[in-house]
Amino acid sequence: MPVAIVTGAASGIGLALTKHFLEAGWKVTMADMNVEAGTKLAAELGPSAFFKKADVSSWDDQAALFRETFEKFGSIDYVAANAGIDDRQLLYEDVYETVDGVQVPVKPNLKTIEVDLNGPIYSLWLAVFYFRRNPAGKKGKVVITASNAGLYPFPTNPQYASCKHAIVGLVRSVAPIFIKENITVNCICPAFVETNLAPKDLLRRMPREHVTPMSTVLRAFQSFADDDALTGQAAECSLGDIFYRPVLPYPNESERWMFEESHKIWEAGYNQS
Ligand SMILES: NC(=O)c1ccc[n+]([C@@H]2O[C@H](COP(=O)([O-])OP(=O)(O)OC[C@H]3O[C@@H](n4cnc5c(N)ncnc54)[C@H](O)[C@@H]3O)[C@@H](O)[C@H]2O)c1
Repeated sequence: MPVAIVTGAASGIGLALTKHFLEAGWKVTMADMNVEAGTKLAAELGPSAFFKKADVSSWDDQAALFRETFEKFGSIDYVAANAGIDDRQLLYEDVYETVDGVQVPVKPNLKTIEVDLNGPIYSLWLAVFYFRRNPAGKKGKVVITASNAGLYPFPTNPQYASCKHAIVGLVRSVAPIFIKENITVNCICPAFVETNLAPKDLLRRMPREHVTPMSTVLRAFQSFADDDALTGQAAECSLGDIFYRPVLPYPNESERWMFEESHKIWEAGYNQS
């Protein structure tokens, strides 16, 4: 049976995905910072669920998470790099301190970037390392939880939107390379889903007809488990539908050539084989 790592597994999408995989007979390492909820949930979910405390923005935590999972279960087949947070510093604020009577800027809080972008990159890096060491050459799948805010501007949470856009660019960029090793890398871009991410007041205000059911998001995760040909995809999940979004159309022939036919030139220039 496949082995999955799910980050942000103590709540919302990560918890729903954990239950989904366990119901299918998978083994799941549930990673989260919330030790109390994670420990309790894993105990309730049974012996195929294993909780490991990990802050995804910490390399050491993620390295230990992957190592322990591989040693415990003997392989890692599917990594859902799902943990995420909203903005912790609004970029529109005028934040300063006064030093010797002069207003000086304060370093912005970029925790969102550390969790929502560095975190998935650590997960991808570690996933590939262990996939390459899976028994009998079995390779694996990485699915990162981006957002519909990775496809459209999102003024209330610009740091979040930056990370989610970056994730879409990341999976589209690495997928053509990793597929040569039978490793697929995709992301999902859910619209608004009822979880603990958004403030309670926002949940109360959001019209029900614009809330995407968890079942759509789970179908997208499952599609990447089922279909080995799906890679480099951004699966927009809205209401009952999944849209595998194409890249932007090229505005001229040169741009098409640059991204579809010039790889050998770039690889030679960067000395990559
Ligand atoms: N809910 C939505 O509407 C929505 C829409 C699009 C994308 N997403 C994305 O879905 C993912 C999951 O969010 P959710 O909606 O289920 O939220 P949630 O708040 O219900 O769950 C997130 C979980 O991640 C954990 N977490 C937070 N920071 C962490 C860290 N540094 N290391 C490890 N775990 C951490 C939290 O403890 C929590 O258990 C996020 O990446 C989010 O950006 C959510």
